[in-house]
Amino acid sequence: MPAGDGSAPGPRLPIDVDLAGLAEIAAELALGAGRLVRDDRPVDVARSTKSSATDVVTEMDTRSEAWLRARLQQLRPEDGLLGEEGSSVESRSGITWVVDPIDGTTNYLYRLPTYAVSVAAVVGAPPDPGWAPVVGAVFAPELGWLWTARLGAGALRRRVELSGAVGREEVVSTGGCTELGPALLATGFGYRDQVRSAQATLLARVLPAVRDIRRLGSAAIDLCLVADGRVDGYYESGLNPWDLAAGWLIAAEAGALVTDGRSGAPSMTLTVAANPVLHPLLASLVAH
Ligand code: IPD
Ligand code: CA
Repeated sequence: MPAGDGSAPGPRLPIDVDLAGLAEIAAELALGAGRLVRDDRPVDVARSTKSSATDVVTEMDTRSEAWLRARLQQLRPEDGLLGEEGSSVESRSGITWVVDPIDGTTNYLYRLPTYAVSVAAVVGAPPDPGWAPVVGAVFAPELGWLWTARLGAGALRRRVELSGAVGREEVVSTGGCTELGPALLATGFGYRDQVRSAQATLLARVLPAVRDIRRLGSAAIDLCLVADGRVDGYYESGLNPWDLAAGWLIAAEAGALVTDGRSGAPSMTLTVAANPVLHPLLASLVAH
């Protein structure tokens, strides 16, 4: 739990790390890549597939990640990089950037507005256990929302107009729902048939217990919506570090517990996010 809830030590930072500077870079990168994917989208987006026939990568995922990689090379050449589209650079500074160049690629392909660029700086060596985000930015260019967080400094949302004008910062915090019955949850599904089948079985147990479910198609946005109190909780299995790194910190800094459904960090096995009262109820519903 990066924000620190009094029960776990926070991530160990390199001695000379300037978190405010890293946070500015995270926001700059998310804004730049978000504008690129929104404004440079060709009429026919070239695409190929990855882990399954429905797991798509578009030319703009690749271009966005290349832009992020080049900008980081200029700004932070000693840092590592882990990106969804294959970037893997070992860190020489103790800081690694974890980027999702388009989270919500299926939405992007279908021209649905719920996609984002997710950028986090983390300590540790993801995907190895023990890594944790220290700054994060999620920019959803068609929704016009930029969420940011820095370890220990809370979570913020800013409006970003099509013109590029960035509005004033607003502090965000999780909603106050304390029971499952009235809770509006977000979740998501993986790309592999077997995983989806297990997720459908779990969903059948969750749906009758809660107000409703939203499947928006971007884990990064789902976590920011928990931070923003626009959904009460979120759970998903199978997330990769790039799906959750920035949203994890943003939700935690907004007051959510973000765990693996037990007391550990969110992982490939499970991510559960909700305010500290709702969290144990949601975790016992979805954790095996
Ligand atoms: C996916 C989205 C989706 C989630 C999947 C992710 P992608 O990322 O975050 O909401 O349910 O688990 O893989 O493929 O759009 O970058
Ligand atoms: Ca993703």
